[in-house]
Amino acid sequence: MKYDNQLYYGDNLDVMRQYIADESIDLCYIDPPFNSKRDYNQIYNNAGNKDTAQVQAFVDTWEWNDEAIEGFKRFDLVDGENKYPEKTKLLINSLEKILGHGSMLAYLISITQRIIEIYRVLKHTGSFYLHCDPTASHYLKLVLDSVFCPKGGDFKNEISWCYHKWTNKSNGFQHNHDIILFYTKSKEFTFNKLKNEKAVATHYSKGYHTNTIKGNISQLIVYDKEKAQKQIDSGKYDKIVYREGSTEVAMPDWWEISIINSQAKERLGYPTQKPEALLERIIAASSNEGDMVLDAYCGCGTTIAVAQRLKRKWIGIDITFQSISLIVKRLNDSYGKHTMQNIYLHGIPQDIESAKNLAHKSKSRKEFEIWAIMTYSNNKAIPNEKKGADRGIDGKMYISVSQREYKPILFSVKSGHIGVAQIRDFIGTIEREQAAAGIFITLESPTKPMIQEAKCAGKYTNPLTGNPIERLKIVTIEEIIAGERENFPNTVDVVNKAERKADTNQSKIKF
Ligand SMILES: C[S@@+](CC[C@H](N)C(=O)[O-])C[C@H]1O[C@@H](n2cnc3c(N)ncnc32)[C@H](O)[C@@H]1O
Repeated sequence: MKYDNQLYYGDNLDVMRQYIADESIDLCYIDPPFNSKRDYNQIYNNAGNKDTAQVQAFVDTWEWNDEAIEGFKRFDLVDGENKYPEKTKLLINSLEKILGHGSMLAYLISITQRIIEIYRVLKHTGSFYLHCDPTASHYLKLVLDSVFCPKGGDFKNEISWCYHKWTNKSNGFQHNHDIILFYTKSKEFTFNKLKNEKAVATHYSKGYHTNTIKGNISQLIVYDKEKAQKQIDSGKYDKIVYREGSTEVAMPDWWEISIINSQAKERLGYPTQKPEALLERIIAASSNEGDMVLDAYCGCGTTIAVAQRLKRKWIGIDITFQSISLIVKRLNDSYGKHTMQNIYLHGIPQDIESAKNLAHKSKSRKEFEIWAIMTYSNNKAIPNEKKGADRGIDGKMYISVSQREYKPILFSVKSGHIGVAQIRDFIGTIEREQAAAGIFITLESPTKPMIQEAKCAGKYTNPLTGNPIERLKIVTIEEIIAGERENFPNTVDVVNKAERKADTNQSKIKF
C-alpha cells in the first residue's frame, strides 16, 4: 500500500478480518466501551461558543440480542470458529453458566471476538494495551489470559491510570482510576524503559528518599550525601543505601495523569477523549519510530494524533462518521493539510453505490444522514437526534448575522422517494424556525416542480455581509460525492480546533 497511515470507517471486526494482515502490527491500544450502560454525547459549540449542543456519539448499553446470539455460536465447543482458541471457547461457555444471557456476557462476546483478531494481527514482538475499568476488568483479564498465554504470550502489567474527578455520586469510595491491561504476544517484545521524571526531580532535589523493604525495614536511599546527613544522623533508618550518580527511577504501574477537563486545551468535546500524555507513555514504551500502531476503537483519534507526532505509522478504526470526521479535522488542525496525502481513508462513500449501501441498511441510515450533513458542511453542521419539536430537521449550522447574533441554516436529508410536498414542508420548517436558509440533501434527483418550488422560496440577505444566499438549496448526493461543499460566508465553527503541533517526534512526556 502506498499510504503509511490508514483510517477505516466501519465495524472493527469486519475491518480487521478483511483488511489487516496477520502479524503486521507492532502495538495495539484499544479503549472500547466499558459496558457502562450509558450513552455518550459529543459536545458541539453552538452559535458562537455561547451554548453547547450534545449529540449522541456512541452507546454503551449491551443486550442479549441477535448479534450476541450469533457471536456466542462462534464459541461453540463443537461447531464454533476453528481459529478461536480452545481455552477461550471454554472460558466463554463457563462464563455463560455464571453470568447467564445478559448484558455482561453480550459485552464480553463482542470484545473477545475483537481481542482474538487483535492477537492475530500483532507481530511476534507486538504489545497490546486494553483500556477498561473495574466494571469488567476482572472478566477481561481472564479473556486476555486465555487468548495470549497458551501460545507463549505474557501478562506484563495492570496499569492504574489515576486521576482526580469528583462526582460525589457514589455510595462507596470515589471511582478515580481506570485500568489498562498490558500483554505481549511473546517473551521477545519491544519495551523502552521510561524514566519517572517527576520522581527523579523530587528525590534528587531532596537528596534522598525513603522506602520500606521486606515488610517493615525502613530504608533511606541517598543521592546527595551532604543534604541527607541530617536524616542519617537522626538514627531513624534501619538501612542506608548510597546511590551515587544514580538518576533512574523506573516508571511505576500507576500513572497520575489529569483527565481532559472542560478547560483543557486539547479538549475536542468528544466524550471519553483520553489525554495525549497517556498515549505518549504507551507509544513511547512499546514502539519505535516507523512501527505500526493500531487503535481499533479510535474515537476522536488520540492514539492516532500521538502516533503521528511520534513518527509511528498508524491504523485507526471507528464505527461512527462523527469520529472519523473529527479525526480528519484534528489531523488537519494539528499537522496541516499535507498530512492527509499520506492517509488511506476507507469506508467513506466515494460513489453513489456505497452511499446507497449506507442509506438503505436500517442499521446505518442515521449514519448516512450524518455523513451527508457533515461532509457537505465541511464539519460545520451539528447532526440532529430528531427529538421533540426538532422533527423534520436533520442538522443545523449557524451563520453570524451581526456582531452578536446567529441564525441557523437547517438540513433535511432524504434517502427515499421525494416530491414537491417535502419541499413545501421544509420551507414551512425554515419559516417556523426563523432560520436563514435550508439545505435539502437527496439521494434521488429532484423533479422540475421541486426545483421550481425551491426557487420560489427566494433569497436570504445576511445583514452583516450584504450577500444574498438561496433560501432553500437542493443538493444531491451525487454532487456531494463529486466534491460540492457549502460555501456560505460567516459560518460558525462548532467543533473546537485541535492545537497546532509541529510534525516532530519530540515527546512532551512530563510526569
Ligand atoms: C471510548 S471511545 C474511544 C475514545 C478514544 N480513546 C479517544 O481518546 O478519543 C470508544 C469508541 O469506539 C467506537 N466503537 C464502538 N464499537 C465499535 C466497533 N465495533 N468498531 C469500531 N469502533 C467502535 C465508538 O464509536 C467510540 O468512538
